[in-house]
Amino acid sequence: MGDFELLARDGLARIGRLSTPHGPIETPALLPVVHPDPARQPVPPRELRRRFGLGAVITSSYIIWRTPPLSAVAEERGVHGLLEFDGPVMTDSGAFQQHAYGHVEVTDEQILAFQGRIGTDIATVLDIFVEPDVPREVAEAGVRETIVRATRARTARAGLLAVPVQGGVDAELRRESAAAATGLGDILAVGGVVPLMERYRFADLARVLIATRPALGPEGVVHLFGTGHPMTFAFAALFGVDLFDSSAYLKFARRGMLMFPEGSVPVDGIHENLCRCALCERIPLTEVARLPPEEREVRIAEHNLSVSAEEVARVRQAIRDGTMWELAERRSTSHPALAAGLRAAIRGTRVFLPTEPESRRAFRTTVATSGLRPAVIRFLTRLEAFKAGRGPYRTLPFVPLTTLALREVPAETRDGVPLHWEVVRPVGAVPLELTDVYPVGCYLSPEEFDGSRRTGSVREALEGLAVDVERDWVDAWTRRQVDALFAWRYGPDAARALAEENLVGRRSPKSGRLRRIEHGTTIHFHVGSEGLARPTWKGAQLLHRILPYPQSRVVVAPDAVPFVRQGRTLFSRFVAGGDGSLVPGASALLVDASDELLAVGRLVLAPGEMGRLMRGTAVRVVGHAKGEEPPDPDDGDDPALPTR
Ligand code: GUN
Ligand code: ZN
Repeated sequence: MGDFELLARDGLARIGRLSTPHGPIETPALLPVVHPDPARQPVPPRELRRRFGLGAVITSSYIIWRTPPLSAVAEERGVHGLLEFDGPVMTDSGAFQQHAYGHVEVTDEQILAFQGRIGTDIATVLDIFVEPDVPREVAEAGVRETIVRATRARTARAGLLAVPVQGGVDAELRRESAAAATGLGDILAVGGVVPLMERYRFADLARVLIATRPALGPEGVVHLFGTGHPMTFAFAALFGVDLFDSSAYLKFARRGMLMFPEGSVPVDGIHENLCRCALCERIPLTEVARLPPEEREVRIAEHNLSVSAEEVARVRQAIRDGTMWELAERRSTSHPALAAGLRAAIRGTRVFLPTEPESRRAFRTTVATSGLRPAVIRFLTRLEAFKAGRGPYRTLPFVPLTTLALREVPAETRDGVPLHWEVVRPVGAVPLELTDVYPVGCYLSPEEFDGSRRTGSVREALEGLAVDVERDWVDAWTRRQVDALFAWRYGPDAARALAEENLVGRRSPKSGRLRRIEHGTTIHFHVGSEGLARPTWKGAQLLHRILPYPQSRVVVAPDAVPFVRQGRTLFSRFVAGGDGSLVPGASALLVDASDELLAVGRLVLAPGEMGRLMRGTAVRVVGHAKGEEPPDPDDGDDPALPTR
């Protein structure tokens, strides 16, 4: 293990690199299923890589094994020689044939040894394919036998090993199977789900993934057997699936079906040139239907591959942009069954929360359930804790993002009694001091653009209150907002202690937004467009004095201490502990084992992932004794409404 590096992420969805003997696989990746008999594979693997950028493939070792002319070549020249392909090759074991035909004529030990002999990059254990709705004893027996075989396989094989996870739709069995696979496999391959996808049971698939995902180690590469429709890639990636495989591009082509991320269309029903991909450009889709059957099948398969490769790229870009939920929601409109799957995912929020980033650049709603994304659920949950002991709150009407004018809202009565205000936002009523915080501050929903929600004015809300409406209240709110941001992030005790430190908030002269928190002439915190106070090195020193260990800490192993002290990245394998409640994107104090402060950084990994992924960055250092990274360039003074 240790062959997987996480490079970028959006929640559970991740961009990574899996090293194999025939080169790296950049994940998420689609591994097209190729037939091991070159005569039966319309698009050769080399062409898959050259024309579609699909650089790794999966094939069936079982079909090779039971077909003597193929096995003879494979035994002599290896599976790469057989496929005439020098990129990464994963082999499957025959469990799918067990599902299709009811049995296989090979033992798990025979097929594993065979995969080793033909030089596969990733061998797969011969699992028991557990059908979704079998009696519990049957499912349990399948899971147990799969674990026994996987244990044998791990002992026998030094190279990369895919261990299938079975269990049907039984959550407990899925957990057991996933936990066992984690200790044995490099690739954790969720199986037995093809019947769910074929019957559009995406809600059940979501429940399977919700049960399975938390039990899969973060260091494992997650494979979902049989995800071949581009409509489903975003859905799978949302749960952290790194590898998709399928023969769907070909199976659909045989039935004359064109695949699109929005669903499938029979080629016979095409009267307009819906696709202008390089392939459809050469022979317009409207003419493909009239081609001779064999040629037609190849063209459709190529179109399907092109569209699939494009969708994988879209998923990868969405991970980098932090827009995975938006993409998955958009795709969920392709079919009501997929929408049901997304709703089931939302009911499993707790699975997403540990890796849910502290903030993203944008929050744009796309469907009715957008307001139930994990970002919102986390905000509302924390809001309850924040409001306890404050208040009572009075409510200001809904006002669009750009017109919130603090100077008009009195912070106290004429008698000096503090007034607590909430503003109606699309997520609900939010304390005035927190309206810039992610996801509230960047939350774009139709209400923002629709004058109908402008319910009354600030002046009306003040009627009957003994307040001074002529005074400019901005300074009072600045003090309150600084205090609130500290309480929001570090809790009420820390906020009280920080209130003694003579910190002063500074607003942007242009936008009026809180931008910095200073002490004398030094900046202790930057407040970005996400509305959170981010400590500088100075601010980190202050927090380190105030926050009790291990709050907000990541503990650096001794070997890495001198490097982190100089501002170098903290790699995952050098993490020795810390605050388990931190999340990706959060600011953290990097300390040594005796809690001496070394640097301040931003988390890339969730605490539960640190030390488990053997490669890659855990925390990016942004400030230390000798230097400071400038604040995020995105956090310019005047964030306009996001344009996309
Ligand atoms: N291909 C599709 N589903 C499965 C599965 O559950 N196990 C294996 N080994 N291959 C598959
Ligand atoms: Zn096309």
